[in-house]
Amino acid sequence: MTVNADIDALATKASWRDLPAAQQPTYPDAEALREVVADLESYPPLVFAGECDELRTRMGAVARGEAFLLQGGDCAESFDAVTAEHIRAKLKTILQMGAVLTYAASVPVVKVGRIAGQYSKPRSKDTETRDGVTLPTYRGDSVNGFDFTEAARVPDPDRLRRMYHHSASTLNLVRAFTTGGYADLRQVHAWNQDFVRTSASGQRYEQLAREIDNALNFMRACGTDPEEFRTVEFYSSHEALLMDYESALTRVDSRTGRLYDVSAHMVWIGERTRQLDGAHIEFASKIRNPIGVKLGPSTTPEEALQYIERLDPEREPGRLTFVVRMGADKIRDKLPTLVEKVTASGATVAWVTDPMHGNTFEAASGHKTRRFDDVLDEVKGFFEVHKELGTHPGGIHVELTGDDVTECVGGGDEIFVDDLHQRYETACDPRLNRSQSLDLAFLVAEMYRSQ
Ligand code: PEP
Ligand code: CO
Repeated sequence: MTVNADIDALATKASWRDLPAAQQPTYPDAEALREVVADLESYPPLVFAGECDELRTRMGAVARGEAFLLQGGDCAESFDAVTAEHIRAKLKTILQMGAVLTYAASVPVVKVGRIAGQYSKPRSKDTETRDGVTLPTYRGDSVNGFDFTEAARVPDPDRLRRMYHHSASTLNLVRAFTTGGYADLRQVHAWNQDFVRTSASGQRYEQLAREIDNALNFMRACGTDPEEFRTVEFYSSHEALLMDYESALTRVDSRTGRLYDVSAHMVWIGERTRQLDGAHIEFASKIRNPIGVKLGPSTTPEEALQYIERLDPEREPGRLTFVVRMGADKIRDKLPTLVEKVTASGATVAWVTDPMHGNTFEAASGHKTRRFDDVLDEVKGFFEVHKELGTHPGGIHVELTGDDVTECVGGGDEIFVDDLHQRYETACDPRLNRSQSLDLAFLVAEMYRSQ
């Protein structure tokens, strides 16, 4: 590290503070916010810069077509759900999906959770009205409370501090699970216990787990028992939405003098905050973490090329991931031109499908939901486009939970619109439950194989 690099980096840290930042809360007490930010600036990093570099390398393999990204977790984490039970269930889901994809599609899978920091939500409306009462919308546990009361909905900066601590304890448990034996591939059966075991997807998984077991036994009999099977590389990610929080956790790396957002390994910029002249893109351009940008149906090829110019000027595979969320009815129309123009520009980005956010609708019961078939159809469309163009379908980005919820309709253990009320627990968008997530993993593995 040179002192100059350090000073330059700190100076550029300020560059996004003067730009307009969409979707920020308005705190009633500016002094209270300043105190919280000062505390956050003094807290230790949640991740190391070197780990972010490692994930960038892994994402490089994804961009080049040598690996597949599995990114998943809640739409919005909530403070109340920071329990061993919820975290373990989520992790199990991702580990099971990862095993299915690795084994059935024979591809290395990069596993990234929407976890340990996914507490902030952009909203299309500033207010919500119920029975004639209008209050500010819920913007995630990092901003205000979910309860529909005036007091709960006031943005409270102390929630930023709680977000940090909840992220830290979540990540601590995730690290313990993934390196402490629980994620050992020999545990492939143990991840399939509880309700999911009896579901159709659980039984299909059991069959696959037996095959993995046989393969491991065969390898052991041959005298090889690789260390790689004992632990799992697992990374954290969230939407970089709240500038006060992300800025406070952006630090100069002592090895290189470059800036890293040490709140997560990977962060992404959402569909509502990806303005090219806004604070979020400027912020993303200054940090060295791998960056995702969500691209909705209005994205033009020119915009996509400008994201590359701004966020990946060195054209480094793994630095930039485009998370495409068009909707099942638009993906086949909108994606080809984007991929063609980006490929023609010579950039190697990772293309990932988010088949959730373009497929949300309100059921007659009033529940926000998604059809499993629409989710699947968008993934199919994504694979078709890449096959046609000879490019690589790099991965999936999904909203899921390890719990047996009823939030999305369809799937192998079919959930009907009339079932939605039974266990509708999300704090924001509807998530795939564990058996729907496993169904999806099997179907994606088939698509990958026939690619
Ligand atoms: C999300 O990922 O939860 C989200 C809000 O997505 P998008 O920015 O694509 O709408
Ligand atoms: Co969502």
